[in-house]
Amino acid sequence: MAIPRHIVDEVRARTDIAELIGRTVTLRRAGRSYSGLCPFHNEKSPSFNVVPDKGIFHCFGCGEGGDAFAFLMKSRGVSFYEAVKELGDAAGVVVEEKELSREERQRLEHRADLYDVTEESARFFTNTLLTAPEGAPGREYLQKRGITVETAQKYRLGFAPDAWDRLTGHLQRKRIPMQMAKGARVVGQREGSDRVYDLFRNRLMFPILDDRGRVVAFGGRLLPGPPTPPGSEAPKADGPKYLNSPESEIYNKSRTLYGLSWARLAAQRKDRVLVVEGYFDAVSLWQGGFEEVMATCGTALTPAHLEVISRLTRKVVALFDSDEAGLKAATKSMELFLDANVEAKRLDLKPAKDPDEFIQQFGAEAFEGRLAAAQPLLDLVFDRTIKKEGSSSEGRARAEAAVIPLLRRLPRNVRDQMLAKAADVLGIRPNELIEKVGRVDTQDARSGPPPSMAPPPRWVPSRELAHLLWLLLHFPAQVAPVLADADPTVLTDRRSVLEAIVALAGGAPLAEVADPGRDADLARALRAIAARPAEYQEEQAQSSARALVARLELARIESEILTINAKIAACETSGDKSSYVSLAKEISTLYARQRLLKTVVATRATRGPASSNP
Ligand code: UTP
Ligand code: MN
Repeated sequence: MAIPRHIVDEVRARTDIAELIGRTVTLRRAGRSYSGLCPFHNEKSPSFNVVPDKGIFHCFGCGEGGDAFAFLMKSRGVSFYEAVKELGDAAGVVVEEKELSREERQRLEHRADLYDVTEESARFFTNTLLTAPEGAPGREYLQKRGITVETAQKYRLGFAPDAWDRLTGHLQRKRIPMQMAKGARVVGQREGSDRVYDLFRNRLMFPILDDRGRVVAFGGRLLPGPPTPPGSEAPKADGPKYLNSPESEIYNKSRTLYGLSWARLAAQRKDRVLVVEGYFDAVSLWQGGFEEVMATCGTALTPAHLEVISRLTRKVVALFDSDEAGLKAATKSMELFLDANVEAKRLDLKPAKDPDEFIQQFGAEAFEGRLAAAQPLLDLVFDRTIKKEGSSSEGRARAEAAVIPLLRRLPRNVRDQMLAKAADVLGIRPNELIEKVGRVDTQDARSGPPPSMAPPPRWVPSRELAHLLWLLLHFPAQVAPVLADADPTVLTDRRSVLEAIVALAGGAPLAEVADPGRDADLARALRAIAARPAEYQEEQAQSSARALVARLELARIESEILTINAKIAACETSGDKSSYVSLAKEISTLYARQRLLKTVVATRATRGPASSNP
């Protein structure tokens, strides 16, 4: 949704970014800025900075940064629109929504209604579990499974009583129309009857939240009934062990990861995600200190899941079953991981049946040990495929056929290594396998995210340019004219940098100029520069800027002098008189310019970049 630029600027200007970030990060004042431990990566000494008068935060450790909106988006996963709206509400700025068509507005309102229903249902289940007499079986079960009340509260676990009308009754008392409750998939209705009933009964309830922390669905685990006495008939089954909400207008299974909203920050900080299958697995691992855990909601991993994950980290530890079906799932998901350029590892949890059982039985330390020994999923898929197919020539052909598509998807730098390995286990010559895989360049052949293994070279400003930008940020009135006079090609050969200089000189706010969408490297450099402590006094700003520009030009002149000197030497050997004359003229102009610049650098530089590093 488009919000007018001036509204965005106003909300940003009225937001106290230090106060905002200070709610979740402990900040200490250090001059004009604040510092603290970065919430986006794991660190022991603070390299996370907030600069209130520039409206930005920046981490020198991991490079995360941006304005107040970016902080909300990154830490809570809200959209840009929601971030502006939330901060606008807090600052008393009316954030106008785009003109919506009648249908659009109705759809939005309808969705908002559904969120109300799921939220109200989650509250009902939670209250029942934590306090109601009817919640006793749920509390007992939770205790039996080793889940503490704190964990239950964090995950908003709940309990659906063993009856047909409890939630229904609650929603009716809240005057929620049953038609809406049906749309939210928490109540059912028999065909040909107007009676509605609770879908979830006698179940421990796991609310499923979307990436913005809104309840969108539920998973409910049936409580085990009393043990059947031997010889008696088995009790009538009361539905599946887990009952999940069907998809709805607000719930899309294949994109939803259970636990995402609680795991986001830890995943960024630890730079990994643990993907598990079950709700209990997620809750138990979280309780054991592995906050970076997420579960698929009763489905296989999808590309949409990986898209969500790869925005947080490129390292995934997947927990698949070790049986035949598990191998199939692993092979399948391997292709997804490769396509999403996510590095996948697999955890061996034997003798436990699942992560929940493992951590409840052996503890967090043992789990950490297994994590450290996790094997790359690709190795495992190779080994097991080959083992499974056997060493007959047909078996090998089948193994090859399974392995080759995976090899084709590998980024070049790991492919060669894996090719050698695969050839070895397949028992064929590497060249033969290379032949079969073909020399497709996977990175060019497919459009995907850039390979994490070979990050593109980062642009960093020269020291002089960094100092110039610092001066421009702090003393635009003095420095802008100097930069306007300077030869732009001396300052930089990066177009976006020149555009940023023009914008800053024209008074645009840094938070807006440092837009990672336009030039991520520049945005990062600008934030880092703004977060640096003061280096110059206002009175020196203009002369220092002149000296810095002179230094940059001097560096260029000196390299030109070298080039021309080399050409002159060549003319001397070849005897090319006419070129010699024009080169000599050229070089004497350069020498004159060099002398002039040297005096500018020497006399006007009261404080130069040599004294410290930007
Ligand atoms: P499991 O059967 O392995 O159960 O299903 P679990 O997670 O170990 O649960 P506990 O420990 O017995 O309580 C793994 C996941 O598969 C989905 C659920 O998401 C479950 O957490 N599932 C399983 C269903 O959706 N429906 C079912 O009937 C069973
Ligand atoms: Mn289990």
